[in-house]
Amino acid sequence: VVFEDSISASKAVAKEIAALIRVKQAQKQPCILGLATGSSPKSLYAELVRLHKEEGLSFKNVITFNLDEYYPMDPNSVNSYVRFMKELLLDKVDILKENYHIPDGTLTKAEIAEYCNDYEAKIEALGGLDLQILGIGGNGHIGFNESGSLQNSKTRLVALDHITRVAASKDFLGLGNTPRTAITLGVKKIMEAKRVILMAWGEGKSNIVRTSVEGEVTNQVPASFLQEHNNAVFILDKEASSKL
Ligand code: GLP
Repeated sequence: VVFEDSISASKAVAKEIAALIRVKQAQKQPCILGLATGSSPKSLYAELVRLHKEEGLSFKNVITFNLDEYYPMDPNSVNSYVRFMKELLLDKVDILKENYHIPDGTLTKAEIAEYCNDYEAKIEALGGLDLQILGIGGNGHIGFNESGSLQNSKTRLVALDHITRVAASKDFLGLGNTPRTAITLGVKKIMEAKRVILMAWGEGKSNIVRTSVEGEVTNQVPASFLQEHNNAVFILDKEASSKL
């Protein structure tokens, strides 16, 4: 679906999320959301905060699971996804502290495998993700599932691609400071979400959007797996859709 600009597109996505939260509230059910970081969802989170403040949208029945976190990462660091999520959304709405989950960048290596299994088990125990929000990396990564990630990959520690690290290096003030690894939700849990919304803005994403939507389904481009999801949508601005 192509919108005139990223702001109107983000408002439409926020409206869909708000409607889902309210349906679940009426059913006295939790609403299980998979959330993303990066620049793409920033205006979505701003709109959700506005809906909370101005239109009384409550997040008390919302349970969230973030896609990923750099490893190692101090949650208080300016570059942590914990800090990003708190500043842009979680500290600005009435979500309960025990209801949001962001992969822990402070674990020891020995703890990671069990932690990742537990992360998936929590999602499963809640009946899976009702909706997964995604951005897309320049190489077609979703979460931090880089090229080569399998469609049935689990939540795990991954090595970041050079292209991903170069993109992140501006935030870390140089490639030397940029993490080499991250914890990411696996492709399998993303594909099991009942609805997936991938958002991409700008000319810079136009080639990878075309490859993901019109190219072959291949683990070289993990976003292409979404072609096989029965309820996935790419929400684009005009520039990101320009090569379709
Ligand atoms: C990072 C995140 C991804 C995100 C991607 C694109 O790699 N781990 O989840 O989709 O960046 O970022 P941006 O939205 O800033 O283009």
